[in-house]
Amino acid sequence: MSNENFINQLYYGDNLDVMSEKIQNKSIDLIYLDPPFNSNKNYNLIYSTATGQPVEENAIAFCDAWELTNDKLNDIKEFANELEVEDDNKSFADFWNAWVKALEYQNPKILAYLVFMARRLRLMKYKLKDTGSLFLHCDASASHYIKIILDGIFGHKNFRNEIIWQRTKNPKGSQFKEKKLGICTDSIFWYSKSENYKFDLSKIKVPLTKEEIEQKYHLKDDIGRYYSGPIERGPSMGDRPNLCYEYKGYKNQYPSGWRMTKENLIKLDELGNLGWSSTGRPFRKLRPEDDKGHPLYNLWTDINRLYKSKEKLGYPTQKPTDLLERIIKMCTDEGDIVLDPFCGCGTTLEAAQELKRKWIGIYICMLSTTLVEKRLVEKYPATLKKGKTYKVDGIPITMEQVKELINKADTNKNEGRYQFQYWAI
Ligand SMILES: C[S@@+](CC[C@H](N)C(=O)[O-])C[C@H]1O[C@@H](n2cnc3c(N)ncnc32)[C@H](O)[C@@H]1O
Repeated sequence: MSNENFINQLYYGDNLDVMSEKIQNKSIDLIYLDPPFNSNKNYNLIYSTATGQPVEENAIAFCDAWELTNDKLNDIKEFANELEVEDDNKSFADFWNAWVKALEYQNPKILAYLVFMARRLRLMKYKLKDTGSLFLHCDASASHYIKIILDGIFGHKNFRNEIIWQRTKNPKGSQFKEKKLGICTDSIFWYSKSENYKFDLSKIKVPLTKEEIEQKYHLKDDIGRYYSGPIERGPSMGDRPNLCYEYKGYKNQYPSGWRMTKENLIKLDELGNLGWSSTGRPFRKLRPEDDKGHPLYNLWTDINRLYKSKEKLGYPTQKPTDLLERIIKMCTDEGDIVLDPFCGCGTTLEAAQELKRKWIGIYICMLSTTLVEKRLVEKYPATLKKGKTYKVDGIPITMEQVKELINKADTNKNEGRYQFQYWAI
């Protein structure tokens, strides 16, 4: 698939079907998924009545509660068979079968969730290019199990990082009622498809805070803040006789030399960035204006969850675009293809569009249909044209398909009814 001719795509449907039927293997550069977390909740979108009271029958945006139904038991068998026939998954197949035995009685709900995730993750691996990466967003409800599945599917050698995102700095009142510590972090597991993955740390440096600048650039002169760094090469750096010269009566040690040519040293001095110690030795003045920020670690505390932010659309579990932009910048280039198989209200797609990447989003909730399109087209009216620069696929258009939608009731008996209602509206 040539990325140049690729048209951005929005699919309505179960991501398992969409990925197997519509997305080519080895065509995707980055997958970010923020699936249901096994939180045992229904996520409702609250619509207010004219009096401001919430409507009694809230619209269910998605259900995150799991049962080990016969369908799920079939999925477990099917998944085990799929693993058996794939050479690179055979050892994981034995492990998976043992796990199923242990969890089937102990914790059937978690097993229902895990088989849902495992089948999809296996497909995602095939969709990634060899240089691609997958980022899975989850929390402590099931992260320990998810990581084992990811190790099994991607191989532990392709585990890159567990990113800890501090999503809030304001603990909720309700958490003090529970007899445990409040939770303010999510985990994002990063796996690459192979060892030859794209990654550029320099694209995601974090600017220093005011306090960090004051601490690092603790000295001051007429120009402003600075800290002092060496301007001469040390003996361990090797010999550079061509960088040995005299400047303002100071002759540095032969044969290691200065750290730059005489021409550049003169420029540095003219800019006021050359200092002299009380013993007459030269040093370099490093200024905060030239600081590119510090490299990122796996603990991300600088991106706050959306709280009264302009970005907030009222969609439960909406993530900040800053978070997605950072992930996309780190592992892709312009023109690369980003897939979000659980795209919710389209945060990943907006971040990808902003950074000039191509995107594919899959959603299963009819409510997202208009929400995602509206969000994207309102922000990028000049570049996003339906049918030209993006396509929408999977929305029922025949009576057969509409009936199928109404009869869909796998997670909630009202779901099909509501999905039909959103479709009709
Ligand atoms: C946690 S939310 C994602 C929120 C998203 N990151 C955002 O910022 O908008 C998970 C989404 O996955 C959707 N979902 C659940 N099962 C799905 C499936 N099998 N296929 C596609 N989407 C699914 C849910 O409807 C929900 O919108």
